[in-house]
Amino acid sequence: MNKPANTSNQDIPVGSINLSDPSRFENYTWPETFARVREEDPVHFIEDSPFGPFWSITKFKDIVFVDSNHKLFSSEPFIIIGDPNVPSNNFISMDPPKHDVQRKAVQGVVAPKNLAEFESLIRERTQKVLDGLPLGEPIDWVQHVSKELTSLMLATLFGLPLEEREKLPYWSDMATSSPGVAGNTSVSDDVRQAGLDECLSRFIQLWHETLDKESSFNLISLLQKSDDTKDMINDLEEYLGNILLLIVGGNDTTRNSMTGGVYAMNKFPEQFDKLKANPELIPNMVSEIIRWQTPLAHMRRIATQDVELGGKTIKKGDKVVMWYISGNRDTDVIENADDFIVDRKNARQHLSFGFGVHRCMGNRLAEMQLRILWEEILLRFDKIELLQEPKRVESNFVHGYENMMVKVSAL
Ligand code: HEM
Repeated sequence: MNKPANTSNQDIPVGSINLSDPSRFENYTWPETFARVREEDPVHFIEDSPFGPFWSITKFKDIVFVDSNHKLFSSEPFIIIGDPNVPSNNFISMDPPKHDVQRKAVQGVVAPKNLAEFESLIRERTQKVLDGLPLGEPIDWVQHVSKELTSLMLATLFGLPLEEREKLPYWSDMATSSPGVAGNTSVSDDVRQAGLDECLSRFIQLWHETLDKESSFNLISLLQKSDDTKDMINDLEEYLGNILLLIVGGNDTTRNSMTGGVYAMNKFPEQFDKLKANPELIPNMVSEIIRWQTPLAHMRRIATQDVELGGKTIKKGDKVVMWYISGNRDTDVIENADDFIVDRKNARQHLSFGFGVHRCMGNRLAEMQLRILWEEILLRFDKIELLQEPKRVESNFVHGYENMMVKVSAL
């Protein structure tokens, strides 16, 4: 396994550990730190952090409890640890009933019937991307495969012309890379604002282009067809907020699972051998990738009343952070949780898609994209060799990869 570069804050009292420090995700020291907190202080409070005081929920079952109780734990005003300086007026940051009507308006785009129609398109694109990879040469898997495939998919979901797809991961990065949101310091405020302005103006235009095309069936046309959202264009903050939710939701998450799976296969090569000998394990392995990677490290809530949890009293108004990334490594629920095991029993039992009313809307689509990717990989490649440790994202929210250099060899 990838050994953390330093110790897991063993030298400081557990109560002083700031789990939100984005560098522990970038330098991969988080597994040991969270293991210590799960053991010593699973419902953990810190008074003083760059994001103010907050509770950390680190055990699997406690996370399920918080996530399933939206009346005790509100998603408003925002679901990321920091307080946003990007538009956050969207349905993931709303409680029922407003949440429910907005989600209902767009969820048809990932309904089973529509997913079945996507399958051949996704396969065709995956084949093309994999067939275009140069054999035996260093390539960045993030750029050539993960970003490319997720952007193509998202462009289709929005009805955005495919030649504009590269903008989608850029806008997604602008939405998530903010010191106030997730601790990222790599993008200046001006650059981020310019990116978000560009995103909004393109999507205003796309709204009108979609109105002109009667036959459209995509996220924008669904917003236009629902009585509850047909006027969303008149509230630009809410419109951009929802567009960014869908861009981030569909982009970073699936993208980082596509990269995380290849990384995991290199760290646990015997698992790749097992998979090659038993391709029927692919659907199970897809769930295991999503658990092991945990592309979104956390979601946050605000307590609506005093709540007892793990012997502590969470006070009304307190910020509560559910660390999915930690719950997914909780050995009380998941055996050998640090290991990547393609034939793990109960692989679907993970936290990566959340629980309750906000449970991921695109989970079946993401699983399908990953299943097809691995089916096509096994038909072509003997090996996808990691050439060096990947560069990871500096963020306590998006748990992923900036780049990952690999070399592919044919069967
Ligand atoms: C492996 C891929 C994915 C992961 C790990 C993931 C993870 C998550 C998580 C953790 C949540 C919040 C759950 C909660 O608060 O309980 C969520 C919500 C959401 N996801 Fe995903 N997601 C993925 C793929 C996608 C895709 C492909 C889409 C695009 C269609 C998408 C759209 C959404 C939306 C719209 C929400 C908000 C749902 C609501 O508030 O009701 N996700 N996702």
